[in-house]
Amino acid sequence: MLRLPLKEMQASSGMFKSNAPLIRRLLILLQFLPGVLSWGKEGHYATCKIAEGLLTQEAITTVKMLLPDYANGDLASLCSWADEIRHNPRWRWTGPLHYIDTPDFKCNYDYCRDCHDFAGRKDRCAAGAIYNYSTQLSYYGLPASEQKYNLTEALLFLSHFIGDIHQPLHVGFTGDAGGNTITVRWYRRKTNLHHVWDNMIIESALKKFYNLNLAVLVETLRTNILEDWSADIPSWEVCESNQTVCPNLHASESIRLACKFAYRNATPGSTLGDEYFLTRLPIVEKRLAQGGVRLAAVLNRIFVPVQPSRLRSDS
Ligand SMILES: *[C@@H]1O[C@H](CO)[C@@H](O)[C@H](O)[C@H]1NC(C)=O
Ligand SMILES: *[C@@H]1O[C@H](CO)[C@@H](O)[C@H](O)[C@H]1NC(C)=O
Ligand SMILES: *[C@@H]1O[C@H](CO)[C@@H](O)[C@H](O)[C@H]1NC(C)=O
Ligand SMILES: [Zn+2]
Repeated sequence: MLRLPLKEMQASSGMFKSNAPLIRRLLILLQFLPGVLSWGKEGHYATCKIAEGLLTQEAITTVKMLLPDYANGDLASLCSWADEIRHNPRWRWTGPLHYIDTPDFKCNYDYCRDCHDFAGRKDRCAAGAIYNYSTQLSYYGLPASEQKYNLTEALLFLSHFIGDIHQPLHVGFTGDAGGNTITVRWYRRKTNLHHVWDNMIIESALKKFYNLNLAVLVETLRTNILEDWSADIPSWEVCESNQTVCPNLHASESIRLACKFAYRNATPGSTLGDEYFLTRLPIVEKRLAQGGVRLAAVLNRIFVPVQPSRLRSDS
């Protein structure tokens, strides 16, 4: 499915060297030092970086306006913000917004049945959060005095949760917490299945195919979007009945992929190696790309030149 990245690796790494500011390159390098690397960071970075390249002028302008100064206009640099704050007491309630638990072995998803937190509070799941924060952002044209919510937070949450909902095991079985309680070996290292899909597959790919350079992985996915996948992009972007977001579609795709690829041949205690890695990597790469394309499509639909009549009739 995904062609071997080696050719692009040489071609595009030169490009990045010539125009990436030194600081940016240092930051990317820092992510690969042991201990600095945080869980799932590369996947979210890749998704947001792909989205950034596909935004309309209006969307770029609004995103940059909403980002805090220290982001230097780079959405991808804050794409893991939602993970970083989730253990602060003030934000602990957002934990369940990162995933969706579905009934064991059913391999399907239903908003009414599945979108709640562990205490049964409705809409507290990744899909509910995507509706919530996209709705908040759709009022960005109103004067600040009429804003009920912090739209910087809404943008960072939305960008993160669209990434999460594309990770197949973020829409997994309740009984194993999306693979978190399934202990496996990733080559020789002991870990769990959820972590394999959040991190290990991407990290092994970076080592094996991308010269430990996340920018090269992003560039390879971009090339695939323009070439191999280009015919599919319109179908990735569109939502049923012209809706702005369609998290239910993405969640249904994810649980199906979880059953077909993530859980399969990954029973507790198993060792996952080359065979699992090389057959699942194309799925992971495609989901990163789809997350990026869809995040861009959503932001482009939300950030259109303001139509005051639309805002007034909605509020
Ligand atoms: C929607 O977002 C706001 C701001 O973070 C939050 O207070 C509210 O509880 C959220 N609603 C749901 C259903 O998650
Ligand atoms: C919005 O949220 C961000 C992140 O939590 C915070 O740094 C910023 O001060 C908030 N802005 C306002 C106007 O409250
Ligand atoms: C979606 O929007 C397009 C363009 O605005 C319009 O032509 C089409 O009829 C709409 N479809 C639905 C199902 O609302
Ligand atoms: Zn998350």
